[in-house]
Amino acid sequence: MNKKPGFVFVWPIGTRIIHWMFALSFSAAFFTSFYEYMLHDHVALGFIFTIMLFYRIIWGFIGPEYAKFKTFKLRPSQLKHYFVEKVQNRWRKIPAGHNPASSWFTVWAMIVGTFIVISGLLLYGIQEAKGALSYLNDDYTQYIFILELIHRYASYLFVVWATIHILGVFIEQFWHKTNMVFAMISGYKKTDGKDTEVSTMLAMFAFGSIVLAIATYFFIISSNYNFLTLQKYREIDYAQEHMVFHRDCGDCHKVYPPHVLPEESWRLIMATLDNHRGEKITEDNITMHAQESILNYLVENSAEHSTREVAVKTMHSLGDIRPKAITKTPYWRETHKDIPRSVYKTKKVKDKSNCFACHKDFEYGLLDDMNIIYRD
Ligand code: HEC
Ligand code: HEC
Repeated sequence: MNKKPGFVFVWPIGTRIIHWMFALSFSAAFFTSFYEYMLHDHVALGFIFTIMLFYRIIWGFIGPEYAKFKTFKLRPSQLKHYFVEKVQNRWRKIPAGHNPASSWFTVWAMIVGTFIVISGLLLYGIQEAKGALSYLNDDYTQYIFILELIHRYASYLFVVWATIHILGVFIEQFWHKTNMVFAMISGYKKTDGKDTEVSTMLAMFAFGSIVLAIATYFFIISSNYNFLTLQKYREIDYAQEHMVFHRDCGDCHKVYPPHVLPEESWRLIMATLDNHRGEKITEDNITMHAQESILNYLVENSAEHSTREVAVKTMHSLGDIRPKAITKTPYWRETHKDIPRSVYKTKKVKDKSNCFACHKDFEYGLLDDMNIIYRD
């Protein structure tokens, strides 16, 4: 017998928590994706989403009655009938479990979600060289552009999808008056059917997944150096790597890592040292021998020879051009287009070429999104 007359218990607490964690982690991950320096939070939220997604797929096979895939109404004729009925009648009987529209929604959300999760994990490994898949950065950087497209457009699709779902729920709530909004809160639907039952095993599985998701979130948030977040690249000690480069090119500013510009750009910079950003650098400052040695070092470690994100994306953005400055590369312009020019005039920054003011690990050859200081 049903515990509440006139109502059916369809969504047990585990299902409801997971539904909201899925929705909230997606929304928050979507929001943080617009800010590079929030990548860490984005990834932590993405892991909640990932665990919830896996959980939901398994739940579809072993879970309680109304959550099982085999109860889904996926025939096109059912969907058509659902909409015809919806348009014709203000009042209709609603099914206890998923209706045809929400069955389709759930299946598509899982498919699109899977694309988002896999492309995201691969991007984190290949592009950011971080986490358990960071070793993929060695060989697969040519795929970051396609992965980024998949990740981006799959998530836009998810937003469109979720919006339709929310509209559908509101139509149910306010036009058909089926009290749909409260079903995912209280667990009860106003309809006929049997109350759902959750075995202890299933309940443990549901709560295990929730705890795992929350624990993973805090594990990621708390450290940039655990196995889920660690970057393949370590700090470079340029004094150790190339003493002359560090000493002579580090005289007026901290040294710029060689992998941010291509070979030809370094040749241009080294060939025009007598007019280097208004400074006249001659043999008296840096001997010819030292200049040659520095150029060799720059060329050997130029962007062409690196699989770091900045190197790959700079090369990709350059095409045939070889500018004399990092700030003239299309990639640099694109990544800094939202920063107001006035920021570069502040006492701390002084010049847009002063990367070190905002990227506090740049002098060690890194550009971790977590280490960007400037925030507007
Ligand atoms: C006499 C001082 C001086 C020395 C020595 C010097 N630079 Fe510079 N360099 C500057 C100034 C000034 C800027 C402008 C940015 C700033 O104010 O920090 C600059 C900027 C740069 C930039 C950034 C350009 C851009 O906007 O992308 C690079 C790259 C660079 N220097 C490379 C070198 C290399 C390589 C050497 C060693 C061969 C070197 N510099 C030695 C004064 C110097
Ligand atoms: C005024 C501060 C500031 C200066 C100066 C600056 N940056 Fe940035 N940079 C930022 C901010 C902020 C972002 C993140 C933008 C965003 O959130 O989309 C960024 C993003 C980047 C990115 C993209 C990071 C990624 O993972 O996608 C690269 C690469 C980069 N900067 C390199 C440089 C280099 C090289 C220089 C020097 C020539 C430089 N920046 C100078 C503030 C600065």
